[in-house]
Amino acid sequence: MGLKPYLTPEKIDEIVGRLASEIASTLNGEEAVLVGVLKGSFVFLADLSRKLGEDHEIDFIQTACYGMRDTPSNEVLILRDITADLKGRAVVIVEDIIDRGHTAAVLVEYFRARGARSIMLCALLKRKGGAPGLPVDFVGHEMGDGFVVGYGMDYKERYRGLPGLYILEDG
Ligand code: IMP
Ligand code: MG
Repeated sequence: MGLKPYLTPEKIDEIVGRLASEIASTLNGEEAVLVGVLKGSFVFLADLSRKLGEDHEIDFIQTACYGMRDTPSNEVLILRDITADLKGRAVVIVEDIIDRGHTAAVLVEYFRARGARSIMLCALLKRKGGAPGLPVDFVGHEMGDGFVVGYGMDYKERYRGLPGLYILEDG
C-alpha cells in the first residue's frame, strides 16, 4: 500500500480558512452548534473551530454506513449520539468527505427531527457527481475517485494522524 501526496497541510489550512469565513458570514453572528461526524472529522473540526471567530458549541456524532459501495443501500446507524439540545438552533454538520451522501442526508433529517431551526452541511472533501440532490452548503475541495487518508481520515483505522491528505495506492 503506497501513499501519494494529495493536499499539503498548507493547502488544507488555506481551504479550512476559506470555509471558516464562509460559515462565519452565513451565520452572521448567530451562535451555531458544529456537529462533527466521527471519527474522520475530528482534525478538521478542531481546525475549523479555531478559525471560525464567532463563538459556537461543539458536539459529535458517530455513524456507520452499511451497504455495498455500488448499491443504493441507505442504512446509516448512529453509534454515538449528540448531547446538545438542538431546538431552535443553527446546526452545521461537519463531514470529512461526502461520498455517496447517505450519511449526510440521514443526519440532516435526524437533526431536523431533533428540532434544529436550520441545518447546513460543510464537507472538507466532496466527490464530483456524488450525492446528487443533496445541497452541500460549504465544500472545501471537489475530488474524483481515489481513497483518501490522513488529516483524521483512515483506512482500517490507520493514517488518521498524518497532517496532510494522501491517496491510497496499491503496491
Ligand atoms: P457517504 O455516506 O457515502 O457520503 O460516506 C461518508 C463516509 O464514508 C465519510 O464520512 C467517510 O467516513 C467514509 N469515506 C468515504 N470515502 C472515503 C475516503 O476516500 N477515505 C476515507 N473515508 C471515506
Ligand atoms: Mg466520516
